[in-house]
Amino acid sequence: MLNPAHPLSDQLLGWYDRNRRAFPWRALPGETPNPYRVWLSEIMLQQTGTASVIAYFNKFVARWPDVHALAGAELDAVLTQWAGLGYYARARNLHRCANIISSQMNGVFPQDRAALQKLPGIGPYTAAAITAIAYDAPAPVLDGNIERVMARLYAVKSPLRESRSKLRELSLALIACARPGDMAQAMMDLGATLCNPRAPACASCPWRDACRAHAQNMAESLPAMRPRRASQSRAGAVFWLQRNDGAVLLRRRPEQGLLGGMMEFPGTPWQEEIGGLEACMPAPCAWRELPGTVRHVFTHFRLELKVYVGEFQENTSVDGVWVKPGTFKDYALPAVMRKVAAHVQRSTEEPEA
Ligand code: ADE
Repeated sequence: MLNPAHPLSDQLLGWYDRNRRAFPWRALPGETPNPYRVWLSEIMLQQTGTASVIAYFNKFVARWPDVHALAGAELDAVLTQWAGLGYYARARNLHRCANIISSQMNGVFPQDRAALQKLPGIGPYTAAAITAIAYDAPAPVLDGNIERVMARLYAVKSPLRESRSKLRELSLALIACARPGDMAQAMMDLGATLCNPRAPACASCPWRDACRAHAQNMAESLPAMRPRRASQSRAGAVFWLQRNDGAVLLRRRPEQGLLGGMMEFPGTPWQEEIGGLEACMPAPCAWRELPGTVRHVFTHFRLELKVYVGEFQENTSVDGVWVKPGTFKDYALPAVMRKVAAHVQRSTEEPEA
């Protein structure tokens, strides 16, 4: 039920009207939001921060300005454009979802949360965000920023894992105002700017007088977190096999699993320790181990890769495709593999005379 005159909503909306962040996916005041742009941005923002998403979003909408255009794109082109954003299952689901909306729904995104949630890549949070932001409907949009803002405003002291459903209810009571979409985005902006995790700028906050955590001088320590699990480390080796003409061997990763369907340099599995080196070499040759390692952090583990370079002997056969480093950008090479390429380039460049 709409609650048009909640004083807390009015205070925050006044602040939002003066301080809203400008994003390319956000409608300007008075403009009707574009559901395609809202959906695309929410998928990109699922595991990536706004600062990194802006450039990707602009490139996507320049190349595929609407859902029909994206549906008509080759999956490989979408994966390539996505490379660097990480979590590539998002890009595959994005493409599948665009195809369903384009071919079965006349290009129109459903307005209903339950219908949205049936589409690939759209979970409860994203469905709520799309209905609120694109269709101005009251929906429980609870992201990390809003959780923090709610935990502080109402001084909810139990750990997030236990308090999440209460925080969702509290946020929905505020979002169900006269401008639900703006209210959800206002709470995101407040959490991302003033009500930040470590040094909240309470003096400038439109909710300072109402904030119970501020009154109890404990804004910085909320929300309560559970201790982080020590992150795991894994190690592996990759093989940079180069032909006489400069082309390097790439292969495609299996469709399922981490970085599914992306390209990579052949290598060992990523395990606690490097194993199976010989068995994983793509061809017999005099492999040279480069000094140093390539490091990359995934959500659940840290990876350290050794890199071996070798010159291809034309009389052997190998699995994969030969690609010149200058055209890597046309292939869906994930960030970790781009780091490998940069490492090889750095290590094999002639030192300046
Ligand atoms: N994070 C997730 N969705 C967002 C949005 N629409 N605006 C800003 N930050 C966000």
